[in-house]
Amino acid sequence: MTQHQRLLIIDFGSQVTQLIARRLRELNVFCEIHPYNLLTDDILRGLNPQAVILSGGPDSVTRAGSPRAPQAVFDLGVPVFGICYGQQVMMEQLGGAVEGGHHAEYGRAFIGPAEGHKGDGIFAGLFDATNKDRGREEVWMSHGDRVTALAPGFEVIGTSPNAPFAMIADESRRFYGVQFHPEVHHTPNGRIMLENFVRLAGFTGDWTMAGYRDEAIRKIREQVGDKKVICGLSGGVDSSVAAVLIHEAIGDQLTCVFVDHGLLRLNEAEEVVTMFRDNYNIPLIHADESELFLGALEGVSDPEVKRKTIGRLFIDVFQRYASGIEGAEFLAQGTLYPDVIESVSFSGGPSVTIKSHHNVGGLPEKMGLKLVEPLRELFKDEVRALGRELGLPAKFIGRHPFPGPGLAIRCPGEITREKLDILRKADAVFIDQIRKHGLYDEIWQAFVAILPVRTVGVMGDGRTYDFACALRAVTSVDGMTADYYPFTHDFLGETATRIINEVKGINRCTYDITSKPPGTIEWE
Ligand code: XMP
Repeated sequence: MTQHQRLLIIDFGSQVTQLIARRLRELNVFCEIHPYNLLTDDILRGLNPQAVILSGGPDSVTRAGSPRAPQAVFDLGVPVFGICYGQQVMMEQLGGAVEGGHHAEYGRAFIGPAEGHKGDGIFAGLFDATNKDRGREEVWMSHGDRVTALAPGFEVIGTSPNAPFAMIADESRRFYGVQFHPEVHHTPNGRIMLENFVRLAGFTGDWTMAGYRDEAIRKIREQVGDKKVICGLSGGVDSSVAAVLIHEAIGDQLTCVFVDHGLLRLNEAEEVVTMFRDNYNIPLIHADESELFLGALEGVSDPEVKRKTIGRLFIDVFQRYASGIEGAEFLAQGTLYPDVIESVSFSGGPSVTIKSHHNVGGLPEKMGLKLVEPLRELFKDEVRALGRELGLPAKFIGRHPFPGPGLAIRCPGEITREKLDILRKADAVFIDQIRKHGLYDEIWQAFVAILPVRTVGVMGDGRTYDFACALRAVTSVDGMTADYYPFTHDFLGETATRIINEVKGINRCTYDITSKPPGTIEWE
């Protein structure tokens, strides 16, 4: 249905397929990823791609029953670019040969031009004799098999010691293949190849965030019709952007439910409610259920029991409010692309595993609701760009992630209202310090944890016996791994002094210097 020129990525299960999509969007090219085993020749033709990329993958084309591209890919008359496994599949299907075993190559490699070739077509601009590698190209390899005979019509453009067919081309059909991964950061000139490829395929670069927004709005209207949608708002970037986008599409057919579990940060509930109700005029139910949650958490100190209690209550509460909205047929979620990317199940034949992170997991089935997920094609930073396009305040868009269970998992041991109040104040001072020093955007996440221990101190000649807290600040790309942030001693000293002076109930401050792994970002 899209009006964009479309590039089709056929996924063979590589770990880095989503990076191909990412690179293409950076080139303003609209692309879709489809698992190889869900594509028939008919579906393929219906998609009407202007070019096709065959991704890498973990299998070996030498194994009977291993994945193949629909043969029609090669009859569409459009450019095709095979990457790693994709190159081998292309050779296998077009009459070349691939050999397995003993050819494994992982990590950095250098490719030089084949004799008589200086690089043109998608390889134009490579092999510059004046580059730092004297005309060779640094690339990232990750393969076990290799091509040993070219299919008719192909010629070798570049070779490495272990991959004599590292770059191949059939210019007349505009078919290209590489043994390495141009989409990863460790292939510095990979972007040039992808750029050349989309240019020679005739892409004009018509994918923009403004265009995306208009199209998303059209799709939401088409999907929802005149029915009602409910959206669980967490105050985080993803659900907020989804809500504002859907509201633009269908106005008051959308109602948001913001469940306040009493475990939010200082002034957070007011900020979220004000933004949505006052600035956007979006119908919003502010479900203040802090008594319910804090009551149920009383006496609980086991982290897993805390999480499960909060998760269960969240679903109950959301369901109670949502079922009061008459005629609601859809549930909106801010699910992102990395959450939903469909990965091929290699063990179980043609079945497809869909990883899906639902904030309100299980609800759609339980309530008989259909899902609206307008962000499912986007990466986190693209969601932020869409948020800017929609006019959400910059400060809101750049906010650090905040976990669903909220302050409960930053309060090891028993949760009490007193400790939560102290924690909120200390956290606000820490974040204020980080903002004042201009460090907020460099840090993935920063917060205070209040420790389940009181320590002795001396303040103004008197003895104190108050809580200790830990400051936590990390850098990360995706939250999967993290490093502690290297604050200066001056910053740490100033922050500790401010917290102890300004927050009654804390008399000792520590800085958590654990990376992840072995630690986790949150304390519980
Ligand atoms: P950990 O502590 O596992 O956290 O290193 C990684 C990232 O995930 C966030 N996090 C959560 N987010 N629900 C969420 O929505 C949760 O239960 C949850 N637990 C951790 C955490 O804040 C960090 O960004």
